[in-house]
Amino acid sequence: MEWLNNIFGDIIPRNITNKEEKIEVARKVAEKVKDGDVIGFGSGSTSYIAAIEIAKKIEEENINIIAIPTSYEIRNLCKELKIPTASILEYKPDWGFDGADKVNNQNWLIKGRGAAMLKEKLNMVNAGITYILVDNSKIVEEFGESDVVVPIEVLPDAVNSVKEALEDLGATEIVLRKAEKKDGPVITENANVILDTKFIEIYDGLEEDIKSIVGVIESGLFIDYSVEIIKPDPKNK
Ligand code: A5P
Repeated sequence: MEWLNNIFGDIIPRNITNKEEKIEVARKVAEKVKDGDVIGFGSGSTSYIAAIEIAKKIEEENINIIAIPTSYEIRNLCKELKIPTASILEYKPDWGFDGADKVNNQNWLIKGRGAAMLKEKLNMVNAGITYILVDNSKIVEEFGESDVVVPIEVLPDAVNSVKEALEDLGATEIVLRKAEKKDGPVITENANVILDTKFIEIYDGLEEDIKSIVGVIESGLFIDYSVEIIKPDPKNK
């Protein structure tokens, strides 16, 4: 018997910023969906809108796909939209899509506002290509120190030693991400915490340097992955 009152289905994202641009890029990625595809589904509000656009395409064209979701939020949205899901243990994605918090002129990404970067990166390294859906507010020339925060997922027992090691790498500000409707820190879907970290410089190699610290699970820095950026059409500005 199916549940008639799926409370997880109520996880509709908060107020979505730049919604028109997000819908535009979501429609562009929905056009790429073909019958039989196994697709990595990213997390965040842009991915949320993309899943809705993909569901429309599935219904209109009567095609079948399998989604590999990167968070509870997107997995439950897929269930609501009747898009079949599987784990990456069962299927390797043919391709994927995801959002980003920032993209620079070398297609380096900063992700993790939603704390889902571990599974997002896992999908990305396994998919042939990942389409990154961004509105204009995400696009920058360079990652300057001031406005760029790199989220880092850390084993809770390791926060103090990881903090010291991050300072050795040039971290200028390290903040434990706090939960909003729970006391204490945000606990990720992998039972870890997040250190939101600013660096003097985001250099080629910083991602590996962060990852090499014992206790770091993953960072939101994505340098040189197989991505194609999908942006809004400048004509629609
Ligand atoms: C989730 O952890 C993130 O990596 C998101 O993909 C990223 O923060 C983009 O989110 P929005 O699409 O909501 O801007």
